[in-house]
Amino acid sequence: MSCGENLVGWIVGESSPARSLVIFSHDSKSNLSAGMYLVTETPKGCVLGILESLVSGSRLLPNSVTDPNSVNSVISAINQNEMLGETYLKGNVMWLSYLDALKNGSIDSPKVPPFPGTIVYSAKKEDLENIFSPNEKGWIKIGKLSTIDVDYKININKLQRHLAILAVTGGGKSNTVCILSRNIIKELDGTVVLFDMHGEYGDLGLGDKANIRKPIINPAKLSFEEIKDLSRLPENAINQERILRRAWLKTMDEYKKGQISAADFMEKLYENAKEEKGDANKREVDGALNKLEDIKSMYDEVIDPNAPLELKEIIEPGKLTIFDLSELDEIGADAIVSHFLRRLLQERKLWKRTKSGNATGYPVPAFTVIEEAHILIPNKRNTLTSYWASRIAREGRKFGVGLILVSQRPKNVNPDVLSQTNNKIILKIVEPQDIEYVQDASEELSQDLADLLPGLNPGEAIIIGSMAKLPALVKIELCNSKKSGGDIDIVSEWSNINKSNESIDEDLKSVF
Ligand SMILES: Nc1ncnc2c1ncn2[C@@H]1O[C@H](COP(=O)(O)OP(=O)(O)OP(=O)(O)O)[C@@H](O)[C@H]1O
Ligand SMILES: [Mg+2]
Repeated sequence: MSCGENLVGWIVGESSPARSLVIFSHDSKSNLSAGMYLVTETPKGCVLGILESLVSGSRLLPNSVTDPNSVNSVISAINQNEMLGETYLKGNVMWLSYLDALKNGSIDSPKVPPFPGTIVYSAKKEDLENIFSPNEKGWIKIGKLSTIDVDYKININKLQRHLAILAVTGGGKSNTVCILSRNIIKELDGTVVLFDMHGEYGDLGLGDKANIRKPIINPAKLSFEEIKDLSRLPENAINQERILRRAWLKTMDEYKKGQISAADFMEKLYENAKEEKGDANKREVDGALNKLEDIKSMYDEVIDPNAPLELKEIIEPGKLTIFDLSELDEIGADAIVSHFLRRLLQERKLWKRTKSGNATGYPVPAFTVIEEAHILIPNKRNTLTSYWASRIAREGRKFGVGLILVSQRPKNVNPDVLSQTNNKIILKIVEPQDIEYVQDASEELSQDLADLLPGLNPGEAIIIGSMAKLPALVKIELCNSKKSGGDIDIVSEWSNINKSNESIDEDLKSVF
């Protein structure tokens, strides 16, 4: 029995256990596309591989042709099929695993290369279904293989090794976030926190399993670093920082002793800073007070003493929590995102430590989605979000906190954090520097697969990492209930204004 479905070609040239060059048969030419799965025999059994690239050529039309007239006669001969043999289609295949191992749910990379002349087949649909749509707990569908009608599932347990979703603008990142978050909640009762920078996500069709929250923080839960961040205190303002820090420590102490309530916190912080004489001169105390006044005028709505104190009342277990950050500037967004990343990590650690007795902390694992990661976790600047995201990237796995980074500018994302994302969903990327950067951060992305990135359609992605059985080219499912994100129909909106002006004119005419 053959390894695969239909004969498509033969191995030519020199092969390694990982790669072969294949020349395709004329009959199969119209059925081939990059990203499809092929199989062949090796002395140790059938192996499955992915077709990474395709090139066509003709011996009669080499790169060196200079006479256009000669081309014409060759083309008409080729068109009449007389010289079909002169045109060829070749491709590189990356061999991924022995088929038998895959059928048993494991991966075993080939150790012996296939021999030249060995037949190459298209993979059987039922084998691909076994591999890519296993009926196992924790695997959810996010789309279909691009090249064949087979459902594509990922292993959500492996998402705790983090994920990056990368693409040019309009490539389909938010749609991917939508489908992923929705299915995690719907099918697995999971917990997802989504930091929505543009207010573009609705409830994703989850009804009461989604909460869209205003970004508010209880002042008694603010860390000193967050206050410093919101106050825009320059790095070199050491004395002002000391005044604020001492005032904050004192206020926190009073709050913990029950001497003041959360509602009085910011007022009391101001009072305590005012009293900070010590070594500080009046000018520096005034500087610190100005910073606190700035926080009040800019972030009054964010710092809310009525915000719940308990994390599980804000990020409800088993639900999708969306923080709409569209009204905030970058500093406000940085404070909010880092605040909840910090608390999730700290409270998950607490939960793990105290679990057996009377447990406190955050009770369930959670995934956090950070849109616009190049702004919040940038390459060349320190932000609080960068700090806590890299802590989660390193430690989150032990405590069940997963990071999902989303960006259209991969090269501007902090490389330490990006390279910790073991899983990648890479949609269309055009800029060579971005592609190179992504390749540096992902061991599994071969040059040939990377070369496919500029040509991908919206919603088409190369998926790699431990959440995926094998590298795959996938068409992500369309997530209908995303609020917006596609381009605005500017022309219709303009013409609507003209129409409504006309109707006002008509109304006026009828009055006068
Ligand atoms: N899987 C898909 N199937 C079909 N169309 C898609 C798919 N994904 C995205 N699109 C189309 O592309 C548009 C843009 O998608 P999306 O908003 O997800 O892109 P984005 O990468 O988040 O863009 P931005 O960088 O602007 O946020 C969608 O409105 C939709 O029309
Ligand atoms: Mg988007």
